[in-house]
Amino acid sequence: MEAYSQLDTFLTQAETDIQSANSIEELESLRLAYFGKKGHITALTKLIGKLPAQDRPATGKKLSNARSQLQTSLETKSEKLREKTRLERLASEKVDVTLPGRRAASGGPHPLSRTMFRMQEIFSRVGFDIAVGPEIEDDYHNFEALNFPPEHPARAMQDTFYFHDNLLLRTHTSPVQIRYMANNKPPIRIVAPGRVYRCDSDITHTPMFHQLEGLVVDESTTFADLKGVLEYFVQEFFEQDLKLRFRPSYFPFTEPSAEVDISCVFCKGDGCNVCKRSGWLEVLGCGMVHPALYSNVDIDAERFAGYAFGMGVERFTMLRYGVDDLRIFFKNDLEMLSQFQ
Ligand code: PHE
Repeated sequence: MEAYSQLDTFLTQAETDIQSANSIEELESLRLAYFGKKGHITALTKLIGKLPAQDRPATGKKLSNARSQLQTSLETKSEKLREKTRLERLASEKVDVTLPGRRAASGGPHPLSRTMFRMQEIFSRVGFDIAVGPEIEDDYHNFEALNFPPEHPARAMQDTFYFHDNLLLRTHTSPVQIRYMANNKPPIRIVAPGRVYRCDSDITHTPMFHQLEGLVVDESTTFADLKGVLEYFVQEFFEQDLKLRFRPSYFPFTEPSAEVDISCVFCKGDGCNVCKRSGWLEVLGCGMVHPALYSNVDIDAERFAGYAFGMGVERFTMLRYGVDDLRIFFKNDLEMLSQFQ
């Protein structure tokens, strides 16, 4: 039969086709063209039965040889193509392990947090415990128990954020003094860091800022102890020899009261822009605990005396790092923050 006589030619052509296949897909369509339902070899196999009986064995053998030859070629080629694809993929996914790595950016504490940690660390070295109080306060702890007369200007709406008559955002950390004294007996030695709120917003004021409160109550606490502790703190905090100046002042909850200036950290007292040519920077308020507070917390005013101080965390941070704009602390610009790591 005609079809069988051309088997050799067909095989030669098929070999060429297989060898020149460029992809697994191409090879697969060739396989179908030979062995698929309508494939050439399949068709020839079906025709065997129509041959004269004496021709069948020889032709059958020839066909069977052709079949295994093609199958072997397809298999070999398929191996080759798979290996080729694998090598191509390896080449395209090649990683240069000698390249320097890309570092994962790491976070770190905000400069204000760093300052608060630093302050706490310095005070805990000389025996202070850490205390905290709520940011949402009541009038009693924020004002009344701290000896603010009812008509005191700090209670007026423009300074204090009120929820209602009795509930407010604390305007300072001093209410922690009351809460701590109400729950602890002397000797008391604490610092209390935290957020405070005032209805005030301009270049040098933000409605939320941070303070660190200090309170010491013991049997023979004096103003000299207060001075000593503050001198120690300022020295440790700024790591510089700075002078302290106590100016008489007024706070309802301390008597006597003082505001403390330090010699300017930038010009060392010579006078510069930061200290407005005065050579001094005001950094905190302090005083001896007013005896009126003790009756609110059941501490014997005859037996105990104490001092308290409150400092602005933003102010200390700006002075330590030479930051001249308060607002950068609240923008959270990553480039700025990363300089503090
Ligand atoms: N609470 C005062 C303020 O916010 C600071 C202060 C604290 C003063 C403790 C004296 C004693 O200004």
